[in-house]
Amino acid sequence: MDRSFVMIKPDGVQRGLGGEIISRLEAKGLKLVAARFEILPEARVTEQYKEHLAKPFFPGLKVYIMGGPVFLMVWEGRNVVSIVRKVIGATNPQEAMPGTIRGDFGIDIGRNVIHASDSQKSADREIAIHFRPSELTTYTRIDESVLYEY
Ligand SMILES: Nc1ncnc2c1ncn2[C@@H]1O[C@H](COP(=O)(O)OP(=O)(O)O)[C@@H](O)[C@H]1O
Ligand SMILES: [Mg+2]
Repeated sequence: MDRSFVMIKPDGVQRGLGGEIISRLEAKGLKLVAARFEILPEARVTEQYKEHLAKPFFPGLKVYIMGGPVFLMVWEGRNVVSIVRKVIGATNPQEAMPGTIRGDFGIDIGRNVIHASDSQKSADREIAIHFRPSELTTYTRIDESVLYEY
């Protein structure tokens, strides 16, 4: 089964959106297989966002992401990476469609509530930054036999 890395950012935590976000992913049929609540150390933030190191917004991004606790999660499901990207919406909440998490809950691009991996390759890389393999649980959700057609 496919896996994606999802992170409720400090603004999402502070605004009390954690439960709502988890509810949406659960209701979609995705399965939570790992989670941790913590303030990220600088090294893991830099590693997580290394493609953006040279961008003008990077210093501000780092301060924002380290500004409070985040909720790190691994979600599992068929095609979970592209599904979660659709559920969270466009990077800029002003352009994100209503019904998406960023479209419903954010305004500024630099305070866009949530992160999710943008490809399977990114997902594998990001999961490995934040979780040991032994932290990823394996279990069957009781509704799986009716969620999937095959
Ligand atoms: N122009 C910008 N100004 C401020 N922050 C930005 C800007 N572009 C991107 N970011 C921040 O960097 C994160 C990573 O950017 P990117 O990988 O392009 O988007 P996504 O999170 O949708 O994959 C964004 O989610 C956002 O928090
Ligand atoms: Mg990205």
